Amino acid sequence: MAERRIVTLRRLDEAQLSRLRQIAVVDAFEDLNETNQAQFMEALSRAHGLVGGKLELDEVMLDKAPSLEVVSTISVGYDHLPLAAMNERGILLCNTPDVLTETTADTAFALIMATQRRLVELSTMVREGRWTAHVDREHFGSDVHGKTLGIVGAGRIGAAIARRGALGFGMPILYAANSAKPELEAELGARHCSLDELLSRADIVCLVVPYNADTHHLMDAGALARMKPNAALINVARGKVVDESALVEALERGVIRAAGLDVFAEEPLPATTPLAAMDNVVVLPHIGSATHETRDAMARRAVDNIIGALAGEGPISAVNE
Ligand code: DGY
Repeated sequence: MAERRIVTLRRLDEAQLSRLRQIAVVDAFEDLNETNQAQFMEALSRAHGLVGGKLELDEVMLDKAPSLEVVSTISVGYDHLPLAAMNERGILLCNTPDVLTETTADTAFALIMATQRRLVELSTMVREGRWTAHVDREHFGSDVHGKTLGIVGAGRIGAAIARRGALGFGMPILYAANSAKPELEAELGARHCSLDELLSRADIVCLVVPYNADTHHLMDAGALARMKPNAALINVARGKVVDESALVEALERGVIRAAGLDVFAEEPLPATTPLAAMDNVVVLPHIGSATHETRDAMARRAVDNIIGALAGEGPISAVNE
């Protein structure tokens, strides 16, 4: 049998690389840039497997990789990958669900705390020497405990956020999802409702839906206008779920009070974008799952997936099996 080859695109630790080397010759790339693009394409043209984060594959690249059997993304989201073209070519796509659920829920909660209590804005005031008097009403935040938490998309991460809100902060939970989740209702007293009802009742609206044609600009000007004027919008899903121009306008005009955002239509977010300069917006550099423990677990899972798929060893998390 011809030698198997795997391309990696992400800095993987030696333990994971050596697991891959037991089943294949590995061409390792930490990132893609102008100087290594040709070398990467050469490696991809011979590869049976590709494992990495932020894999920006397109059809032209797939056409140049006739041996490719499996792509293992180090992420749960796969909206950046051309799934239909992969299906046409019989390429298996694997992702890393479960292992990042709790960490991403922690990030969502960090954004909830930061936007409600204005943590970044007030910390900046201290660092810049502008804490010159007793903090008064103009700098007060809003409570988290007891507020109504609206979760848009009640998958694994949505449920983990709901759990934090209900059990840790006594928050009534509303959720908008394609179908009701009886287990969430039994466990947390969460209530299934329409998106419109959720937007009009929630004090904090948290987006946790996958990005696709149905969720593109789900939060447009009309949806933002349905939110309460004192409400905050939290996005740990994908940037394009929100119409960012409409969001800027809504924040400027006081249609909603605040936003906490980990994801953006364009990443990295240019520092010149209005969102990056607004006091009532907390921006993070897409760190939903970015802890040592979780990123290591995701890399391990992605390597498990590719070994499982190419060498038939162990279960895999496949998207399009
Ligand atoms: C994911 O796993 O999809 C996270 O958003 C990281 O990209």
